Amino acid sequence: MTSSPESPQDLLKLAVEVAEEAAHLIVERRRGTITVADTKSTLTDVVTAVDRESEELIRARVLQARPDDSFLGEEGDDVVGTSGVRWVVDPIDGTVNYLYDLPTYAVSIAVEYGGETVAGVVVDAPKGEVFTATLGGGAFADGKPIQVSGATDLSQALVGTGFGYDPVRRQVQAEVIQHLITKVRDIRRIGVGAIDLCYVACGRLDAVFERGLNPWDYGAGALIAAEAGARVGGLNGAPVSPEMSIAASPELFGPFHDLLAAANPLRA
Ligand code: IPD
Ligand code: CA
Ligand code: CA
Ligand code: CA
Repeated sequence: MTSSPESPQDLLKLAVEVAEEAAHLIVERRRGTITVADTKSTLTDVVTAVDRESEELIRARVLQARPDDSFLGEEGDDVVGTSGVRWVVDPIDGTVNYLYDLPTYAVSIAVEYGGETVAGVVVDAPKGEVFTATLGGGAFADGKPIQVSGATDLSQALVGTGFGYDPVRRQVQAEVIQHLITKVRDIRRIGVGAIDLCYVACGRLDAVFERGLNPWDYGAGALIAAEAGARVGGLNGAPVSPEMSIAASPELFGPFHDLLAAANPLRA
């Protein structure tokens, strides 16, 4: 761990303030009509004006308070600063839920120092639930400590996952799901990668996996899950990356990983 000249708690405080302000904005905007403003990697990969407005708000607030920091946002902001601190932001995680008014979507902010995530916040905007963590400082939901389920039996595990927008990856995902569904209690597709990880952190899911998540999807949630006692990683000892993210109650991680590896998700 690179020691930060500033306190992760101070970084978290700003992250929470800004994430709550953005969460309030996106919930307010949802009272009006939400339409697709643009598509990105594929026709199903949509963006709304509110995704962009939320990112603008977060960038403005963060860089106003900390002008020397770097800032990476899903909707295109990539500011390179000099302080060693980088903010990695998903202004609406769960845009498709947001578009359809399904009441689970989030604002996710991870704060890195020297490339390592030291603080993270995920705000479930419609619910107002706030998940937080600092490196070595534990994980919390609405200020109360949280921990993983402690599940040990894969056959009784409730597993979360998601599907990216890339059709080739979706084909692989379909095959993996087919392999998995008879070996676990059940599978949930909530539609919000950051929330999936927070749900492992607080025991609402026993394990999650997804291929194709980006740092703004998993940055905060991976820290929150790890600080809640989850084992978090990729395939074959790799760290979490866009290639694969897995988080699970510690005793489940090994068998869950092996099941995913046997389903051969590396083919695409
Ligand atoms: C998506 C959500 C979804 C996951 C996708 C992500 P977005 O993020 O987290 O749950 O399955 O892979 O891209 O586009 O709604 O911010
Ligand atoms: Ca996302
Ligand atoms: Ca997003
Ligand atoms: Ca998106």
